[in-house]
Formats: sequence, C-alpha cells, structure tokens
Amino acid sequence: YWSVDKNVENEKNYPQIHEAAMLLRDGEAIAFPTETVYGLGADATSDAAVAKIFEAKGRPSDNPLIVHIASQSQLEKLVSDVPPIARILMEHFWPGPLTLIFPKRDGVSAKVTAGLDTVAVRMPDHDIALALIAAADVPVAAPSANRSGRPSPTLASHVQEDLEGKIAGIVDGGATGVGVESTVLDCTGAVPVILRPGGVTKEQLEEVIGPVLVDPGLESHVEKPKSPGMKYTHYAPKAPLVIADGSTSFVQALIDEARQEGLKVGVLTTAEQKGSYKADQIIICGKREDLSTVAAGLYEALRSFDSTDVDVIYSEAFPQIGIGIAVMNRLVKAAGHQVIKE
Ligand code: TXA
Ligand code: MG
Repeated sequence: YWSVDKNVENEKNYPQIHEAAMLLRDGEAIAFPTETVYGLGADATSDAAVAKIFEAKGRPSDNPLIVHIASQSQLEKLVSDVPPIARILMEHFWPGPLTLIFPKRDGVSAKVTAGLDTVAVRMPDHDIALALIAAADVPVAAPSANRSGRPSPTLASHVQEDLEGKIAGIVDGGATGVGVESTVLDCTGAVPVILRPGGVTKEQLEEVIGPVLVDPGLESHVEKPKSPGMKYTHYAPKAPLVIADGSTSFVQALIDEARQEGLKVGVLTTAEQKGSYKADQIIICGKREDLSTVAAGLYEALRSFDSTDVDVIYSEAFPQIGIGIAVMNRLVKAAGHQVIKE
C-alpha cells in the first residue's frame, strides 16, 4: 500500500510509484487511481499477469479488458490500424475518459481481448496512472478494481474492501474524479458506436466528429450488447435497489409502503431533495443541478448502504442528458433493471 499525492510533478521523486511499477513489470497485479475509477493493472503483454486480474476479481473470462497506455508510441504495438476518426478523437480526448476499440495486432494477449479480434485502449488523465504506466514501460491491462459485480471503486478503501490480500498492492491517490468509467467507443466501422456510456458524453463526441450511434443492446433486453461486459449485473450494493422514477412524493409513497411491511428502507437522493424524505437511511449523492457531482459520488453512495442494515434501497432517477446517461446506465444495472415509473 502506497499513498501518493494526486498531482505528481516529477515521477522520479516518487519511489512508491517506482516500486509499484517494478511489481507490475514482474507480473504482479496492482491497483491504481485513474480519473474515472481505480483500476486493477497488470502487464498486458503477459498471459500469466493478466490471469491474476481475472482471478482476483472473480471476473468471467469472456469479458475483455481495457489496455492503458501513457504515450501514443505504446499504441502502435497493440493495434493493426488507426482509423482517421480515432486519430481525431485521440487528439481531442486523450488523456481522458474515452476508450477506443481498435483492430488488434497479433501478439496482444488473447486473455486481454477475450479472444476478440479487437482491443480496447485508453490513456487515462491522471498523473499517478500515467507515471506508473511510463515507469513500468509496458501497456497495462486494467479493469475497475472491484470484485466482479460490485460497484466500481472511487477510493482506495473501496479497493481494500474488495481485494485486500488478493493483489500485490494499491497505490492510493485519493478520490478519483469523474466517478463513472470511461466511455467505450467502437470506431472500427463507418459510424462510431458507443458501447458503454461514460465520462465523455455523446454530445461531446458529436461536437468533434458528428453523429455517433448508441449500441441498441444497451437499451433493450432483446438484443445482446456488443460490449461483452455490458450484459453482466454490476455495481450492485448488497441490499436490493429499486429505481423510483417520479416525484419525491411518489418515491416517499414507495418508501412508506415498504416500511409498513416492516422493512428498513434506504433512499438515495440529492442535495436538493433530501429534505423530502422520511426513511431509515438517507444517503445524499451530489446535486441534481450538476449531474457530474452525482456521477462522482454514485459508487461511494451505493457502497455506503452496505454498512447500514437496510433491507431495500429506493433511488431517485436522473435526467438522461450528458453524464446523466452514464449515471442512469449504471443505476439501472445496479438495480437489476427494477425501475418503477410514476
Ligand atoms: O474508466 C474505465 O474504463 C476503467 C478504468 C480503470 O480505466 N476501466 C474499466 O474497465 O471500466 P472494465 O473492465 O471494468 O470495463 C471494460 C469494458 C467492459 O464493458 C468490456 O466488455 C469492454 O470495456 N471491452 C473491453 N474490450 C472490448 C472490446 N475489444 N470490444 C468491446 N468491448 C470491450
Ligand atoms: Mg468494471
């Protein structure tokens, strides 16, 4: 466990980063902060190292990993082609919360890509992550550093809760920023397709490259999502979560009904609406007027119910605009698609 300031000015001054990087080079799995969530990293060129990620997380082996790089030169060793649109996107959004899908080069571990002929790559916008990857001098495969199915970690303590004793180390850089994972964008076809909504919004992408599609599998139960990870239940707190999509009085009516049945009820709300509820646990997650604050606090809010004795959690719904799309995508998955509309 190493604690490092979020803003690393000269990585040479951080022996902790060097030590963690050498463990990565040695084929160990190390958790580190990014601007989205904590990642669990391993050398993407080593099958044995990558296997440790799947083992520690309990991750299904058909769910491919994102490879993290610190410089454009690392990209060439991973991908066989860089479509022109990807170049434009990299220029605008890297480093940042945008993962691009490329045709992969031979030699990229099939464990990383789960046997697909594409590879997901991103350059994180976080000093510690960049310094660590540069010092390790290998591309770093890193899923979110949670046990599979749990909310992603936005604090080092979340990683400890889930993975203590199962990994070689954690670099603690404090709270991550964005709070939800990167946007996954497939730009191998004629029109780019969002496979997972995330830190870079559809609107931001379209400002730069024009129309972008959204994988229909994200919205329907019928079609299978193109991104293997999107089919799994995920982000779930221990108590069942239900999204109550309506006015505060509608949410309160659901709470009252459950309490009359003798259940202990938690509510996930926002600064503006917290005063509207009577419940056993009231957890505040950001402000509705700024949905980026809801994204930043979402996983911590979901996890915080686990230290309470609630039997059921009701969550407010959020507008599906900007980062709100990623927030609702995660919430709906955390709720196992249980949404009650007013
Ligand atoms: O913000 C993030 O992206 C974080 C931080 C640590 O960088 N990482 C992350 O990784 O969220 P993970 O493994 O939790 O999610 C990766 C997602 C999964 O939904 C996976 O199925 C998808 O990316 N993915 C990876 N490679 C893919 C590929 N070749 N084609 C389609 N989807 C892919
Ligand atoms: Mg994940």
